Amino acid sequence: MTSTLIDNIGLLVTNDPQVGTGTAERESAALVLDGGIIRWIGDSRDAPAADERVDAAGRCVIPGFVDSHSHLVFAGDRADEFEYRMAGRSYSAGGIRRTVAATREASSGALLANARRLVAEMRAQGTTTVEVKSGYGLTVSDEARSLEVAGQVTSETTFLGAHVVPPEFADDVAAYVDLVTGDMLTACAPFARWIDVFCEAGAFDVDQARAILVAGQSRGLGARMHAAQLGESAGVQLAVELDAASVDHCTFLSGADVDALGGSSTVATLLPGVEFSTRQPYPDARRLIAAGATVAIASDCNPGSSYTSSMPFCIAVAVRDLRMTPAEALWAATAGGAQALRRNDIGVIAVGKRADVVILDAPTYVHLAYRPGVPLIHRVFSHDAP
Ligand code: NIG
Ligand code: FE
Repeated sequence: MTSTLIDNIGLLVTNDPQVGTGTAERESAALVLDGGIIRWIGDSRDAPAADERVDAAGRCVIPGFVDSHSHLVFAGDRADEFEYRMAGRSYSAGGIRRTVAATREASSGALLANARRLVAEMRAQGTTTVEVKSGYGLTVSDEARSLEVAGQVTSETTFLGAHVVPPEFADDVAAYVDLVTGDMLTACAPFARWIDVFCEAGAFDVDQARAILVAGQSRGLGARMHAAQLGESAGVQLAVELDAASVDHCTFLSGADVDALGGSSTVATLLPGVEFSTRQPYPDARRLIAAGATVAIASDCNPGSSYTSSMPFCIAVAVRDLRMTPAEALWAATAGGAQALRRNDIGVIAVGKRADVVILDAPTYVHLAYRPGVPLIHRVFSHDAP
């Protein structure tokens, strides 16, 4: 095994609670990586020898981004919808059905090639872990093959058969919920770590969402939820009640929703690329942080509401428009994402954790927001593919 010393780190973000609060930063630091694990952290002057030496030359080093929400298994393109939205039309969940039609038509090879292309984009932008959902198949076989594809690019796979009601079940939503909680779940559970549901007007109501998440939990899947993207949703408090790992979007929250999240271990995952790409109001991150909620940021990369694979872009929008500090936004995109996936081996730079480390081409992570759109990823070290 080859050990790697990264020395002359100007600013090291550890996110390690043993070092300090929040981003828990150190200056003039060095790291040793070996066998995909962080083996040593200390002052650069005390660094031990290693097989290979990487001189960070005063740059900032951060944990790899943990993108805890994406939809990478799809075919087709919806640039036309984006163009209409920028001209004033509003976003609706209905566009999902266009991608469903294209995805059903596509070969598994084409779906895998597209997912790999997007994962490569993510990695080049510093993402070292990504969660990937199904949800554009919506038949037993198309959901199962979507998850097989997802499993070839990540271990964080999520069954989202309850994304929308497919057109063939438009007149019998109850029958579709039975399918999702029955044969579809049986076919998909072996390929999934998580189960998700879109609990929103135009998708699934709170009773249907409960039935779907509880069915998934009974098969050993962890719960997560899309809610409050388009309006307030009872799904937020349901997610907290069911101890979901995360409730995602959180754009329209009642005071009771914020209080529930603040007193829970369910992460509030904000997806600023969605509001950017749909011209919706941004979620109120400050209110969540003030209530003590754990906040994550993710890309939601999908062809409809947010076709960005860039966590640096999401951080820039979080700082500019969600009014998070650069440190809060970086923490949310790393340690916050890890908590949203209930992982303690990533999102942190500490001895014994995974060697998922990014060298920025900048002296501080503030540049991620200060220099939006600029490629600032100097080098990515990853334990394995995201
Ligand atoms: O997270 N909200 C539901 N699903 C996606 C949108 C998917 C699409 O528009 O294709 C989301 O924003
Ligand atoms: Fe989503």
